[in-house]
Amino acid sequence: MNWKALAYLMLITATIAGAAVVVGTVYRQGSTAVPQWPDLVRPGDLSAKHAFLSGKCETCHTPLRGVEASACIACHATDAVTLARQSTAFHSTIQSCAACHVEHQKAVRPTRMDHDALIAIGRSNRLEQSGKPPDAHWLSSLLNKSPVGAETLDCFSCHSNRSPHRDLFGRECADCHLTATWKIAGFKHPSPSSSECAQCHQAPPSHYMGHFHMVSKRVARQEHARVEQCYLCHQTDAWNDIRGVGWYKHH
Ligand code: HEC
Ligand code: HEC
Ligand code: HEC
Ligand code: HEC
Ligand code: HEC
Ligand code: HEC
Ligand code: HEC
Repeated sequence: MNWKALAYLMLITATIAGAAVVVGTVYRQGSTAVPQWPDLVRPGDLSAKHAFLSGKCETCHTPLRGVEASACIACHATDAVTLARQSTAFHSTIQSCAACHVEHQKAVRPTRMDHDALIAIGRSNRLEQSGKPPDAHWLSSLLNKSPVGAETLDCFSCHSNRSPHRDLFGRECADCHLTATWKIAGFKHPSPSSSECAQCHQAPPSHYMGHFHMVSKRVARQEHARVEQCYLCHQTDAWNDIRGVGWYKHH
């Protein structure tokens, strides 16, 4: 063995030993046991609300296993605001966090909705649970079982409260909508002089009560209009901009 090979061998041995000591120490005592270690491997500053954990990497990173959902859940299991909203109520059962909550981007709030991640999480969980009945799993109720590999999410279960269509367009939001935006490319609203309004718009419940005769008809000065004749009283820019009358303020 010549001197060059020997030097390389020593260098490699020292590197491996050094790394082993660092890993061992961090494993036993946490990341702060090795000075500057967090700075060397930190990919970017934590988000503002997690900044208080900057010296405690191991609250999220389990040595050898990486970031596990259980670490996040330990602090966040009872976020009442999130659990109370229809679209985020799925947090009560989800067991995976990182795809939608990306850390180490400093000023960026660590939350973005990723519908594809939702599908992927559902799929991998179902693989893990194969053998058990499919509806034993939390996401199976959210996934429409369509032809193999082409599952789509049940938009209605998370977004029915947001729907402006009331019951007119049914539950299959995905027939018309994608997940990136509620806007639909190419959709152009029918003309304000259309009389077909009721095909696409359902009147609010108050229009089927005494309120319609006592208030709505009088405000719109359309004493003989029927509810289905929206176009006699309404325009297409806003429901409170009453035709021939102007902006109606609620009291
Ligand atoms: C609030 C939780 C949290 C804290 C505290 C935290 N991290 Fe992270 N870190 C994450 C998440 C989430 C990821 C992305 C992991 C993934 O994609 O699976 C990550 C990724 C990383 C990565 C990229 C490699 C990997 O595992 O994907 C490194 C390196 C890292 N963190 C180092 C640190 C260090 C060093 C500290 C302490 C200064 C720290 N982290 C503190 C949540 C945290
Ligand atoms: C040691 C406890 C702790 C751990 C572990 C922890 N967090 Fe947090 N997290 C907090 C606290 C405290 C806040 C601030 C809450 C507030 O201000 O209402 C917070 C805030 C957040 C926010 C809101 C951020 C914002 O800017 O609005 C999200 C999202 C979040 N955490 C997700 C996670 C995820 C995902 C993990 C796991 C990778 C995690 N947390 C791990 C304690 C923790
Ligand atoms: C499929 C994407 C997705 C997954 C997976 C996910 N979340 Fe969320 N999470 C969100 C969205 C979207 C919000 C609502 C943010 C908003 O309304 O601005 C949210 C809100 C939160 C909040 C409230 C703070 C905030 O930013 O409003 C916390 C805390 C949180 N999630 C923690 C977790 C934890 C812990 C996990 C894993 C057990 C997890 N999330 C998994 C998408 C996800
Ligand atoms: C498990 C619950 C869940 C399911 C299922 C789901 N979403 Fe969402 N979606 C969310 C959450 C959470 C957000 C973030 C905004 C919010 O808090 O409402 C969101 C946001 C959106 C947005 C707004 C995007 C933006 O940034 O403006 C659209 C559009 C959307 N979803 C469409 C769909 C469609 C279409 C489906 C069915 C294919 C679907 N979603 C299925 C939970 C869900
Ligand atoms: C028959 C087709 C169709 C179906 C089904 C449908 N929508 Fe829509 N939706 C539309 C059209 C068209 C628009 C207007 C899009 C635009 O302005 O670019 C719209 C707009 C919206 C908007 C945006 C409203 C605004 O102006 O801010 C939301 C939110 C929405 N739909 C939710 C839903 C939900 C939730 C479902 C399922 C319960 C659903 N939609 C089912 C056609 C549909
Ligand atoms: C082919 C279907 C269709 C017809 C016909 C139609 N609309 Fe719409 N209209 C929509 C859709 C879809 C939206 C966007 C989703 C929503 O806000 O309901 C919308 C939005 C609106 C809005 C905006 C609501 C808001 O709060 O931003 C008003 C006001 C409105 N329409 C009034 C009318 C009136 C009045 C008529 C009849 C002259 C009419 N529409 C005819 C489909 C239609
Ligand atoms: C006779 C006139 C008249 C007819 C017909 C009519 N509306 Fe109205 N509508 C009003 C007036 C006036 C208001 C505002 C004051 C009120 O609440 O009565 C109103 C309010 C509304 C609002 C806002 C409600 C709220 O709570 O903010 C919506 C949405 C609406 N109408 C939809 C419709 C639709 C859809 C139709 C047809 C299916 C229709 N209206 C038919 C006069 C009418």
